[in-house]
Amino acid sequence: MSTTPVVVHTIAEIRGHVASARRTGHVAVVPTMGALHDGHLALVDRALEVAETVVVTIFVNPLQFGANEDLDRYPRTLEADVEKLAAKGVHLVFAPSVDAMYPDGPSQTRVTAGQVGGLYEGKTRPKHFDGMLTVVTKLFNIVTPDIAVFGQKDAQQVFLVRRMVKDLDLPIEIEVVETVRENEGLALSSRNVYLTPEERRAALALSVSLEAASSAADRGVDGVVRAAQAVFAEEPLVTLDYLVVVDPETFLPVDDGYRGPATVLVAARVGSTRLIDNDTIHLY
Ligand code: PAF
Repeated sequence: MSTTPVVVHTIAEIRGHVASARRTGHVAVVPTMGALHDGHLALVDRALEVAETVVVTIFVNPLQFGANEDLDRYPRTLEADVEKLAAKGVHLVFAPSVDAMYPDGPSQTRVTAGQVGGLYEGKTRPKHFDGMLTVVTKLFNIVTPDIAVFGQKDAQQVFLVRRMVKDLDLPIEIEVVETVRENEGLALSSRNVYLTPEERRAALALSVSLEAASSAADRGVDGVVRAAQAVFAEEPLVTLDYLVVVDPETFLPVDDGYRGPATVLVAARVGSTRLIDNDTIHLY
């Protein structure tokens, strides 16, 4: 269904629209930073299935970028994004400016992500998850959704958002949608636009390493890690940041003797672009 969404830029406007929409049923939010691709559109599809009104937020949140990260060059493509959302039949788009979200400068009050927030992505990107949880909390308070939809591609983000919702008793249901991949396996990401054709080919090392991990699921955690790491030894254009096997319940690393469901997290630098991916396997 194609219908032009109402695009608003202020908190007061989105609150007004959501207040009327709520009378006709549930409201789902899909928080994004824009530069929408098919992975985001899969989140939108899920939101449209579970709620009568779907709000997509588009906001490149400075609070979750480190000093040397890509805040300035992060792709901003609002017009094209709105066209894609119109084709899906999204009802509302909330695309605030930085001033609208942080009128008094970067917020002094932050949500902190705790122990897991300092691991994996959090090690390379200190404070990233505090900034992410802070803006997600603000977006939840502004949109007041019944349901929020996130992508499994950002597995650590999903874990931390779920944990925050539980810890802080937020009355919001979290829906998670599987990662969407290109034919050869590369997980869709807004940052893929930075890759040269050669880097794009090399970036397949991430998904190939996850396949290797899955094939080694009978060899214990150390065997899984060895099999997955071996893929990077063959790919000089890619520098592995971390490859770790975690318990999906706690998001803490598991020992070699662990058996059961496990999430394999991988992050690597391809040229100047940092990419992440993950898969859940069953160790037996
Ligand atoms: O996953 C993202 O795009 C961002 O981290 C989010 C959830 C929109 C918060 O800025």
